[in-house]
Amino acid sequence: MLVVSATASFIVTIDGPAGTGKSTVAHRLAKRLGLEFLDTGAMYRAAALTALERGIEPADGPRVAELVRGMDLHFDWTSDPPELFADGVAVGERIRTPEVTRAVSAVASNPLVRAAMVESQRLIAARHPRLVTEGRDQGSVVFPDADVRIYLDARPEVRASRRVDQLRVKGIITTEAEVLANIIERDRLDSSRRDGPLVCPNGAAVVDTSAIDIDEVIDRLEEIVRDRAGSVLVSPHRSGHRP
Ligand code: DC
Repeated sequence: MLVVSATASFIVTIDGPAGTGKSTVAHRLAKRLGLEFLDTGAMYRAAALTALERGIEPADGPRVAELVRGMDLHFDWTSDPPELFADGVAVGERIRTPEVTRAVSAVASNPLVRAAMVESQRLIAARHPRLVTEGRDQGSVVFPDADVRIYLDARPEVRASRRVDQLRVKGIITTEAEVLANIIERDRLDSSRRDGPLVCPNGAAVVDTSAIDIDEVIDRLEEIVRDRAGSVLVSPHRSGHRP
């Protein structure tokens, strides 16, 4: 196990399309490294949820951006997984409904909304500078100087099949064809927007998760972080940490 020196600021960014297992991987990697985990997709989802609840059209960029700027979005990192609060209320699973998933692309494609989110994410990092952060633009736009940048990818068919399994666990039955079409459309929207498109950040380590399971992905990422982080990472022995 690796531990990041308690005093150092240290940011690992993980970007990539939906269905690569990014959230799970980022969450578990953060735990291994003793860092906090920032789920920026959850922040966009919370904005979409709040817009829907307040009767604001998700595609109405100026109004959603105003909403985001006035919103208190913060994580409670003492719970596991970290709990996101929007204006003091835990958003929980309400940000994962099909209705929010449909609305969030329109919210995330607006430059005004993205600017407000980027600001909010940098503010979080200023207060919590030891992070594994996960999203679409973390290594390319929000933290281009991050200590380690990673891009996770997987074939669309593999991502669709994983999503079908996840939905089945939640009791939602869909066909692989339907989920695949949805994934391809989201990839298109995420990659083609002008502002903060999904791209592989400069200097990022690319890991294709199509043929490897989640434990192997995490081992691989830990190895990449160890190789790139150099002296910021100290051994548990040297840091006095006990696993
Ligand atoms: O990772 P996710 O499915 O929870 O993300 C929800 C939406 O937010 C998805 O449409 C991509 C978008 N998103 C984004 O544009 N930029 C980020 N940093 C994170 C998510």
